[in-house]
Amino acid sequence: MQSDNYHVNNALQFTNNADFKNFLADVALANDVPKLFGSHHNYCKFDIHSSNLKKVFIEELIETGCIDDKNLSKIGYNLNLLHEIVPQADQEFSPDGKNNLMLKLFNFSKTRNEYYNFVRNIIKPIIGGEFYYQLQPTIRVNFPFPKNYSQIVNYHTDLMLGHLPYIMNFWWPLTDVFGNNSMAMAGYDFSKAFLEQYNWDFRKLASDIEFKPEIYEMVHNECFDLKLQYGEIFVFDPLCIHATQYNKTNATRVSFDCRFVLKNRMHSVHRDYVGVGTLKMPMKPGHYFAENPIV
Ligand SMILES: [Fe+2]
Repeated sequence: MQSDNYHVNNALQFTNNADFKNFLADVALANDVPKLFGSHHNYCKFDIHSSNLKKVFIEELIETGCIDDKNLSKIGYNLNLLHEIVPQADQEFSPDGKNNLMLKLFNFSKTRNEYYNFVRNIIKPIIGGEFYYQLQPTIRVNFPFPKNYSQIVNYHTDLMLGHLPYIMNFWWPLTDVFGNNSMAMAGYDFSKAFLEQYNWDFRKLASDIEFKPEIYEMVHNECFDLKLQYGEIFVFDPLCIHATQYNKTNATRVSFDCRFVLKNRMHSVHRDYVGVGTLKMPMKPGHYFAENPIV
């Protein structure tokens, strides 16, 4: 059956048996999330008074003309209510799976610089050791009941997008997130067993999730909604199955998701990792990651 599902058509495929073996060797070496956070996924906190990230983001929404200050004032600067003031055209999705506001955020230079401060001041003490950080932060805005967006949830593992098995995914909201305005996440044991059942054939797995209701239901029933407030971070192993959900709440979600990898890990991979997106971004320092590590 034909699919326009991005994961079905673009997920990582191995070039030959040696490549697959090298991938399995990378997966077999334990990810650092359980070592640092006690489990393959866990919550941690930061002091919201020690970061200007939310403040700078709101200022840049106004300065770039995305949102009028008067309208923001009307909703009490509560980002959970952004859908009430963001023009409908900016809430609609483009074919690459991002809404128009998210595409505009890609050019938010002040927010990006504040993210670098966040990495140095907030993430560094949490991780402890030397690490590389994702150069361009991903900022998502998930409006309620988005048009042109499939209600079939795209459950995936970041490994099928070409990410290093060693990355640590950090996910933190600027808003309250709960129910299906949040991310859905499956546990590590289920995720690993599920991927092994498919022998890491990511395209077959993505196709079955899309076209076989019993597979979709099985994954869906394993997933739990993340519940966080600004000041909390969810950290997870990239192997874990997860997805942005179709938001049926009355609250917009704004969140950052960024990936970090310990410096010594970066140099112990068995194969080259390249993002499956149109940019085909090498998962290396100077490309997907900043050239120099945080030390
Ligand atoms: Fe993901």
